[in-house]
Amino acid sequence: MARPYRIRQYPLDSGALEIQFIEEFFGEFDRKKTAPEIRARLAGREHAILMVEAELPEEPGHWAPVSYRVAHELRREETAPKLADLVRRLEGKVRFAGQRVLYAWLGGTRSDWRGQGHFRALSESLEEWAAEQGFREIVVKTKNRYYEMRGTLTHLHFDVIHHEAHPLHVGESKVYLSKRLGAARRRPRRLAFDRYQTV
Ligand SMILES: CC(C)(COP(=O)(O)OP(=O)(O)OC[C@H]1O[C@@H](n2cnc3c(N)ncnc32)[C@H](O)[C@@H]1OP(=O)(O)O)[C@@H](O)C(=O)NCCC(=O)NCCS
Repeated sequence: MARPYRIRQYPLDSGALEIQFIEEFFGEFDRKKTAPEIRARLAGREHAILMVEAELPEEPGHWAPVSYRVAHELRREETAPKLADLVRRLEGKVRFAGQRVLYAWLGGTRSDWRGQGHFRALSESLEEWAAEQGFREIVVKTKNRYYEMRGTLTHLHFDVIHHEAHPLHVGESKVYLSKRLGAARRRPRRLAFDRYQTV
């Protein structure tokens, strides 16, 4: 079968630069992450920066990222204020003792490449990587108003584990979801996965 797409796992420095580029050009969200922020968050903790690359129809021969997923380990003992706050909010919802927890921090697909299974392929790759590293649960946070992401996480079998209502705007309410990675819960890859070469 032809493999028109690539899945690439990036090292930290070049990955942080790519993500900065992606967030600037196809993340439609409020606070775009910069390379220094990404490096500061990921350095010193186990992490994965995964991207789907495709040959752009407007630039034959030029491969560019069209979908990305960034995840890192989350420990109960986090001291960085944002992560310590996240762990506090997850208390009683996620078990940190005796298992490794992965936090799926950033991700998206370029708007003109959505609905083609690229985010699913990345998510399945991430889950395989995570299981190999001994992670047992993936946690993700989103907001009510991110309907595409919520629908997608449902399709990827994430369970809602916590909801924090926003006092004024329901769309700003936070939704926390999780997926456990036990071997029994892993499903075989879809045939569509054969479209990707891993580089
Ligand atoms: C959410 C997003 C990443 C999905 O990317 P994508 O590459 O289009 O997703 P895929 O095509 O791989 O779809 C994965 C699954 O989700 C489903 N899905 C995709 N978009 C969906 C939507 N808008 N509503 C419901 N389900 C959706 C697909 O049907 C597919 O399920 P299946 O494999 O069981 O058929 C993309 O729409 C996006 O980047 N949105 C903006 C990012 C965002 O919302 N960020 C919020 C910050 S948390």
